[in-house]
Amino acid sequence: MTILVTGGCGFIGSNFVKYMLETYPEDIIVNFDKLTYAGNLENLQDIEKNPKYHFVKGDICNRLEVEDCIKKFNTDVIVNFAAESHVDRSILGPAVFIETNIAGTGILLQVAKEIGIKKFVQISTDEVYGSLGNDGKFTETTPLHPNSPYSASKTSADLLALAYEHTFGLPVVITRCSNNYGPYQFPEKLLPLMIANAFDNKPLPVYGDGMNIRDWLYVKDHCIAIDVALREGKVGEVYNIGGNNEWANINIIKLLLKIINKPESLIKYVKDRPGHDRRYAIDASKIEKELGWKPSVTFEIGLEKTIKWYLENENWWRRIISGEYQQYYQKLYGNR
Ligand code: NAD
Ligand code: TYD
Repeated sequence: MTILVTGGCGFIGSNFVKYMLETYPEDIIVNFDKLTYAGNLENLQDIEKNPKYHFVKGDICNRLEVEDCIKKFNTDVIVNFAAESHVDRSILGPAVFIETNIAGTGILLQVAKEIGIKKFVQISTDEVYGSLGNDGKFTETTPLHPNSPYSASKTSADLLALAYEHTFGLPVVITRCSNNYGPYQFPEKLLPLMIANAFDNKPLPVYGDGMNIRDWLYVKDHCIAIDVALREGKVGEVYNIGGNNEWANINIIKLLLKIINKPESLIKYVKDRPGHDRRYAIDASKIEKELGWKPSVTFEIGLEKTIKWYLENENWWRRIISGEYQQYYQKLYGNR
């Protein structure tokens, strides 16, 4: 089978590409990525010479590039990770989120329909459901209520994908996962940002009261779930993916500081993110019951592995935070 992975140079995409090459040595993986600020070829250095792997630099918003790539490699299925993925950036500048996440997904769906792709997996997020109060969890039937430009753009993409299934019979499956953590996560996101800052004894910027809750899943478990959805997922269905692992931000940060032996005095409460969702929690019983997936990595082990990876791969994140990232950091945190 030839699998087109879009956005394979990002955090989850690069973990997925490696997982698939290891697990299915017969399959061909084509990684189509624009190499935005978040796309990093270094993430895939160890497999770039694998004869079953191909990299194509391209933009999902460019119809010709998409069509050429899908045809050239006789693509059977598409897994669409390509997106602008960071909520804070979507608040600083929503336009590129609308362009890539909505228009780009629209182009992929249209070309997939014309060419007759056998399965299209849209990688979505639990953020499409909005924010929870103290109780309850998101199920696949929870009404969509996105609150940030990022989550609104992802919701739009989900609706387009479902419409292509309903109207044209394109075999679409959607996965909606909670917050991921693990190796190769760009240091704008909570955990790697806090690890990098703590390492340099810089303040750790905690938004608001630090009591916002996220449900954390180790990235490899997400990759396994996507593979299950790709192979076994029913067309037209949505599958929630989560680790049953809720943490208030401040508690996760304190745990992290304890593990790396840094003082809590590094914590700095800063002005809240506008429109900040309070709590996410996923009910993953559908994919567990219907497709037999369940998380395999405990939070204790996953966090330990992640911290170890960042400590052993200091060059990787130092190269990132010494570039354009500095302007971004100044803009977002400078006057906070
Ligand atoms: P990321 O920002 O690390 O990577 C995104 C990748 O997409 C980069 O390699 C980038 O170069 C590429 N890309 C961006 N625009 C493109 C375009 N126009 N054409 C081609 N490639 C393009 O993101 P991530 O954290 O790995 O997230 C991947 C997907 O998973 C996203 O769709 C995101 O919404 C979803 N998701 C992420 C999380 C999470 O916790 N990170 C949770 C649930 C769902
Ligand atoms: P993030 O990693 O941006 O993921 P998302 O907003 O998509 O869930 O943020 C996770 C949580 O951490 C979220 O509640 C916002 C909070 N946060 C901070 O408190 N400080 C920070 O510097 C960042 C990046 C996030």
